[in-house]
Formats: sequence, structure tokens, C-alpha cells
Amino acid sequence: MGKELTIAMPKGRIFEEAADMLRKAGYQLPEEFDDSRKLIIQVPEENLRFILAKPMDVTTYVEHGVADVGIAGKDVLLEEERDVYEVLDLNISKCRLAVAGLAETAADSVAPRVATKYPNVASSYFREQGEQVEIIKLNGSIELAPLIGLAGRIVDIVSTGQTLRENGLVETEKICDITSRFIVNPVSYRMKDAVIDEMASKLSLIVEGEKAK
Ligand code: PRP
Repeated sequence: MGKELTIAMPKGRIFEEAADMLRKAGYQLPEEFDDSRKLIIQVPEENLRFILAKPMDVTTYVEHGVADVGIAGKDVLLEEERDVYEVLDLNISKCRLAVAGLAETAADSVAPRVATKYPNVASSYFREQGEQVEIIKLNGSIELAPLIGLAGRIVDIVSTGQTLRENGLVETEKICDITSRFIVNPVSYRMKDAVIDEMASKLSLIVEGEKAK
């Protein structure tokens, strides 16, 4: 049997799709995986150990090598710029990073304050646009900021667009498309290359299969 692999998985909306993809790739994940509150789950039959982390923290665990590999959104990778290898686009959890604002003012909005969970991405986007803005960092429910007058606009993830719609906000600019990626710690890649390559190839087959559908 090969070396044990520790994989950091994001809890929350990416989790289900990521777990589903691992199962399709042939990894037997236990039932408790889906509804347990455990943060570390051992799967000795597969020689795997799962760490269930907040999406924004997956890259941190992988960069520090406490997880060998992980599944992380491109949004997090762009924001954090961690020292990890981005090995495969899993093409799941598709969404986009976008600028949005209140419907009434969005068209000609010149509000200088932008609220976001992605201060680095937002700063470089507006710098590239030649626009001076003040970035206000929030940790969630970003859509609240324009409603309550904290910021004129937001930079956030849009998936179905429901959150924007229900809060009377409109998307004004798309920054980029987002999908989840399979990431690897550089040292782990040297020490456990065979087992990591095996996982990457199995996942890659599923990605290609899904694309061909
Ligand atoms: C994300 C994102 C938006 C919402 C978009 O938030 O920040 O608020 O999902 O999805 P939709 O377009 O399908 O409505 P999430 O639920 O992950 O929580 P957060 O507000 O704590 O970031």
C-alpha cells in the first residue's frame, strides 16, 4: 500500500460536489462523511485522511503541508496567492466573481467604496480599470453592504444570482469565471508523487468524462 494522503476539503457549498467527484473517481467515502460534524475523518481502506476546513482555509493547510492536497475555489487561490501547485481544474462549483451594486445607481455608480471578501482581487481589478476605490473587507453576507449604505458596490461570488436579485442588486461587471481546483503542496508532490499523480489522473478522467456529456 502507498503512503497515506491527507486531503483538505472545503466545508460548505463546494463540499457536496467535491465529495461526489471523489466518489466517481473510485474513492470509497464513508456515509458519515456527508453529515458528520467531525473535522478529521480517517478512511484507512483508501489510505486517506480528510481535513474538513473552511473554503478560505484549505489553501493555508495545503501551503503549510499539514494537508498534502486539497480542493479549493479559484477565487480563494486568486485572493490568497499561496505557494501551492494548482494541478487540475475540476470544473465543479462553477460561479463568477463580479462587481454589483444597487439597481437604481448601478449604471452610473461612482461610489468610491467597495465591500468584499476578496480585498486583493478587488484592489487589483479596480487598479487595472484605473479606478480609485476604498476597499472594505467583510467576511460574508457582502450583499448587505450596499443595502445599509456601507459601500456603493460589492465584489463577490455570483452563482445563481438569487442573492443579488432578492436584495435588489444588479451585476455590473464580471471579473472572472471561477471553478474548483485540485491543489498540491510542493514538498508532498516530491515525497508522495505516485499516490498524488494517481489521484490527479483519476480525477482528470472524471473531469473529461463530465465535459464529454
Ligand atoms: C456566496 C456569495 C453570495 C452567494 C451567491 O455566499 O458570497 O452571497 O453565495 O450565490 P447565488 O448567486 O447563488 O445567490 P455564501 O452563501 O457562500 O456565504 P457568505 O455570504 O457567507 O459568503
